[in-house]
Amino acid sequence: MKPTSPAGSAPFSQAGAPVGLPNLLVLATGGTIAGAAAAPEILSRYQAGSLGIGAMLEAVPQLRAHARMQAEQLAQIDSKDMDFGLWEALARRVAEAMDDPALDGVLITHGTDTMEETAFFLGLAVDCRKPVVLCGAMRPATALSADGPLNLLHAVRVAADPGAAGRGPLIVMHQQAFAAAEALKFQSLSPDAFAAPLAGPVARVEDGGVRFLRPAGPARAPGPVAALRARLAGLPPGAPWPWVELVASHAGASGGAAEALLAAGVQGLVAVGTGAGTLHKALLAPLVAATGLGLPVVRASRVPLAAVERDAAEANGKLGFAAAGCLSPQKARIVLLLALRAGLKQADFQALLDVF
Ligand code: SIN
Repeated sequence: MKPTSPAGSAPFSQAGAPVGLPNLLVLATGGTIAGAAAAPEILSRYQAGSLGIGAMLEAVPQLRAHARMQAEQLAQIDSKDMDFGLWEALARRVAEAMDDPALDGVLITHGTDTMEETAFFLGLAVDCRKPVVLCGAMRPATALSADGPLNLLHAVRVAADPGAAGRGPLIVMHQQAFAAAEALKFQSLSPDAFAAPLAGPVARVEDGGVRFLRPAGPARAPGPVAALRARLAGLPPGAPWPWVELVASHAGASGGAAEALLAAGVQGLVAVGTGAGTLHKALLAPLVAATGLGLPVVRASRVPLAAVERDAAEANGKLGFAAAGCLSPQKARIVLLLALRAGLKQADFQALLDVF
């Protein structure tokens, strides 16, 4: 299947859609949900980001019973290649939709591989007062039993539900909705690919409607998040993104990768620790040296169900690391990226991490 143009509005006829339904902005970025393989039985060798959003929406006429939609093809990528430019474009359109009285919510189609990162980024960078939903698929659109069409329908139902407002971006896959900070892609084969290991799903999509399993949080963003957004809003267009990398601790670890990154000018590091965020002594040495030079270092864990707490030394500022709490290393990196981009100081990083 020929890839569609990477950006632009996508024709989608609203003929026959009842008036009075919620109005959704649909932003398409590619992924397996738009993927095409050579034959219906092929599930793993396919081209992600092949089908245009207009065709994807037309293929599910049931969507018209739940929302009126206007679609934009922002990109056509495999989400492993997600970059800061597309994040900025998404954040801009989501923010505009929040301010547009004609729109009731936003739906983003996205590859599953970095979906949790984009959802978390949007939740930090934008005040998502209206429903913002991301959805994808584990099987290409050409597959027998493709999961994309049903995920799309469920995502529209969640995005059209006022109960989804005030929860930040939600990931809707396989009949469940997950909060951005809690969601994790935990397996790469089955349509049931996402989980929230600590908190569980926020909602289930049933034939009768969306069943929310817990109340939405407070309407106002916690202080550190509101302060971060205010500083990000003041950045000039095209402001540079800092260089932040992950370094992993494991059996037989060395400090070599961290030392090389420091020598090359990295601006922040997230240490992917073992267990509760413990670090091999060989890796610890260059990280302590890094903090001595004023470089921010966040300790996280490779364990999906972990809570990395500040240890006594850190709390006294001795090692100068921040602790990721319940955030995965890749989400802790997004906090660090945005905090550095916004010019926040090390003391403020921990307050941001503590929000989650
Ligand atoms: C991608 O992340 O774009 C490819 C994999 C997927 O969507 O499941």
